[in-house]
Amino acid sequence: MKPGDRIKVFAPATVANVACGYDILGFAIDFPGDELIMELTEKKGVEIVDIVGDGGVLPRNPLTNSASVAIMDYLNYIHADFGCKIWIKKMMPSGSGLGSSAASAVAGVYAVNMLCNEKLTKHEMLPFLLNSEKVACGSAIADNVAASLFGGFILVRSYEPLDVINIPVPEDLWCAVINPQVIVLTREAREILPKEISITKSVRQGANVGGLIVGLLRGDYDLIGRSLIDYIAEPYRSKLIPGFYDMKEAAIHAGALGSSISGSGPSVFALCKGEETARKAGNAMKAVMDKMGIEANVYVSKVNPTGPKALPFMEE
Ligand code: HSE
Repeated sequence: MKPGDRIKVFAPATVANVACGYDILGFAIDFPGDELIMELTEKKGVEIVDIVGDGGVLPRNPLTNSASVAIMDYLNYIHADFGCKIWIKKMMPSGSGLGSSAASAVAGVYAVNMLCNEKLTKHEMLPFLLNSEKVACGSAIADNVAASLFGGFILVRSYEPLDVINIPVPEDLWCAVINPQVIVLTREAREILPKEISITKSVRQGANVGGLIVGLLRGDYDLIGRSLIDYIAEPYRSKLIPGFYDMKEAAIHAGALGSSISGSGPSVFALCKGEETARKAGNAMKAVMDKMGIEANVYVSKVNPTGPKALPFMEE
């Protein structure tokens, strides 16, 4: 590794919580995601040269931007005597419920690790990403960052110590995600949740997490659908998403196994068996937004199995 070495990477967006798994379940999707270019410099520290696609809202200060915070933690951890410059291309808005801050931070640590000859494992990099989530949204949550970093469908079994487990998914599992152009800040969407829940709800929530995981492992699509119920966040956060229950109903009517809020919203996901059903579910949710006059983007994807990847530099 030497000053001037460069890399361009992509890190995927994620669907966190997945209905019943508040703060403990998440999966990566193929698109959207964030791109980041990194160049090593003799000067220590991280310089954010440019961010495009964020409408100017993301912090340019390296101490408060999720990507630079994670990269700085990495550089400090390896006692680097060099630094880097970064360029970030956002392909999803922040406050979208698609793990936007997580994708930038994952792209950042993946890039610096590649330029440092893969010095650290993904498990070793995860704490830096938790810290960057804390800076971005006030809570060190792993569901988005772990899903984007490892790819696949993940369970955060424990936070202390961190224990992230990959859950195999059935071959024909597809997801439709709609991102209405409404902003819901994770920090605020966490604040509106009650601090405690009843034992009854906790028992039901746990049973659905178990059901969802068994459904994924067995390829039992009906069980997956029956388990996509959230007693913790959806009843409160649905109020922040215009037309939420209409979108959910439309997706299920179109054949989806189940549907709920992606991360802290406003994006809404629907899990489906097969690509065609996922496209129908996405279109059905989009029709609800069209009727309400709310701009929205729809993404249809399998669970992305790989997480971040290096991209070729195109001739400018
Ligand atoms: N599990 C998090 C939440 C996802 O629902 O607040 C957002 O990072």
